[in-house]
Amino acid sequence: MYTTELQKSNQVRAIEDPEKLAAFEARVAADEFIEPKDWMPEAYRRTLTRQISQHAHSEIVGMLPEGNWISRAPSLRRKAILLAKVQDEAGHGLYLYSAAETLGTSREEMIEALHSGKAKYSTIFNYPTLTWADIGAIGWLVDGAAIMNQVPLQRTSYGPYARAMVRVCKEESFHQRQGYEIMMAMCAGTADQKRMAQDALNRWWWPSLMMFGPPDADSPNTAQSMRWRIKRETNDELRQKFVDITVPQAEALGLKVPDPALEWNEARGHYDFGEVDWEEFYAVVRGEGPVAKERMAARREAWEEGAWVRDAAAAYAEKQAAKKAA
Ligand SMILES: [Fe+2]
Ligand SMILES: [Fe+2]
Repeated sequence: MYTTELQKSNQVRAIEDPEKLAAFEARVAADEFIEPKDWMPEAYRRTLTRQISQHAHSEIVGMLPEGNWISRAPSLRRKAILLAKVQDEAGHGLYLYSAAETLGTSREEMIEALHSGKAKYSTIFNYPTLTWADIGAIGWLVDGAAIMNQVPLQRTSYGPYARAMVRVCKEESFHQRQGYEIMMAMCAGTADQKRMAQDALNRWWWPSLMMFGPPDADSPNTAQSMRWRIKRETNDELRQKFVDITVPQAEALGLKVPDPALEWNEARGHYDFGEVDWEEFYAVVRGEGPVAKERMAARREAWEEGAWVRDAAAAYAEKQAAKKAA
């Protein structure tokens, strides 16, 4: 999949107007934002459309594993916080679909691609949320990894995407804290609560490391995306950063990261860590994740059951426009 994308972009590069391409690349190199009406190479447009729409899908599908727990939150306070967090994710999806639409693909086309299984979303959301501690682990690790990925995207070269990220990142840091606070409460609780917290870390650790994507050596799109400043840091750089920041947080909780190879490397100034199970990652990318089918079924059902809301909003907008015209 990655190779054909790259081959396609190389072919497109060959047929672009060399003068326009050079001017575009100079603007990107000078850290200028590219805006919707500006000229851009087709491969840039296609890569961004894919990346932003995948990102939007991930926000929306990401509501599902946590949505399962809104009615089962252990207190009113926890319920109100989780509800706000899940609503934020819906908002992130909306900003991102809007940003992707400025590149010329309609919202309907993007949703259709998600529902038909053609478009991808983050592999992490194909794992089940078994206990309340999972809600803590998701906020701490999954939103934590999302922040790591998204902070550099505030300086991505496409203006609408970069601006959407500024607000998203502020909200993500609240998400990460609420998750960590759940973990703190559970780790300071009964022996059973602490066991639940450890079990959640055991199950979410490796899938969280997979969120940064395949190793740089197996990610041939990375070089072009770095050159066009769509991506500002590589998958492996971001993964290392995440490990370095998260391991001391696990220690502060009194939890053990489930990786026997994990060790501080004084010479490198970073943690060494074990190899991610890439076979599992690619299986989940292919749609074979533990709850992939349930997630898509829930997504399609929400879309169908929400049809009356979309119809009502469209009818209202039409009525308002007619009134204005009269
Ligand atoms: Fe989000
Ligand atoms: Fe989030």
